[in-house]
Amino acid sequence: MTSDVVKLVEVGPRDGLQNESRRVPVAVRVNLIERLIAAGLRNLEVGAFVSPRWVPQMEGSDEVMRSLLPLPGVSYCALVPNEKGLEAALGCGCPEIAVFAAASEAFSQRNINCSIAQSLARFEPVLMRARHAGIPVRGYVSCVLGCPLGGDVALTDVVRVSTSLYEMGCYEISLGDTTGVGTPEKTKALVRACASEIPLASLAGHFHDTYGMAIANLYAALDCGVRVFDSSVSGLGGCPYAPGATGNVATEDVAYLLHRLGVRTGIDLDALVHAGTYIDKALGRLTASRTARAINARSDRG
Ligand code: HMG
Ligand code: MG
Repeated sequence: MTSDVVKLVEVGPRDGLQNESRRVPVAVRVNLIERLIAAGLRNLEVGAFVSPRWVPQMEGSDEVMRSLLPLPGVSYCALVPNEKGLEAALGCGCPEIAVFAAASEAFSQRNINCSIAQSLARFEPVLMRARHAGIPVRGYVSCVLGCPLGGDVALTDVVRVSTSLYEMGCYEISLGDTTGVGTPEKTKALVRACASEIPLASLAGHFHDTYGMAIANLYAALDCGVRVFDSSVSGLGGCPYAPGATGNVATEDVAYLLHRLGVRTGIDLDALVHAGTYIDKALGRLTASRTARAINARSDRG
């Protein structure tokens, strides 16, 4: 695996902060993003143009976007649920967006107040307008390994929704284990099923760590050939519409694993741990990253 390069998409400033009960000011969000870039992250999801009534933590995403300097090789992305969100994204010069659907009807209703079919219909004009504006669109599918409201989710449903987004023009499909209920064997079956319809290079893994399986699931997906993973510094976050779900797999833990496998990530692990400590202090929380804890304990001793 030494010659491989893995792309990490840092979702802490969005998926992480959207679920923290303490809201952080725009300046802190921007500072966090700048620290993550300094630590070597190049793909960052920095906000969401969703209703502030539904997710108040993401209010001010336009200000965040306007505050970020365009940097060579760095890509900023934000969530967009509909045309109103797209207009907000275009209005502040957002260079990339992500639409988000679910493989579970119940979750789709809870998360974006419409059925899966309605959500896909809403995304059609969003993708068309984004294409005209020259903006790449990523696609998320939630509940790919289970739903917090409806239980098991059929792989055929995951493949159907993922394929619809891909055929609509999403360049990458991020498969979201929203509540972290997946296991490595199920992850492998998921990747194989999706890769039968979508090129493996266009699939990404998005694992939450509720049952401590996120890093194992990521490794299983890596073993199947997936080379793009979403992660969140310090394991921030969860999902506002999936009670009890914890944050994403911690970026520090993913970087540690990949570096030990000889995979290049471009990440400076110590700088990343510092970025995590910065946001943990702002939120008044402790890190969920085992790697960060180990590195901090080492420097405390030293
Ligand atoms: P709705 O209430 O059905 O929308 O919400 P509506 O079209 O009926 O409009 C109602 C009001 O919302 C109107 O305002 C609209 O203008 C406004 P009013 O006239 O009452 O003053 N509105 C908006 N405001 C700001 N931005 C917008 C927007 N659209 C309408 N884009 C809506 C539908 C989709 C907006 C709502 O359900 C929503 O914002 N949901 C967001 C849910 C969310 O952000 N969830 C978390 C992200 S998904 C996730 O975390 C999973 C993921 O990480 C992968 C994984 O782990 O699985 C991606
Ligand atoms: Mg998520």
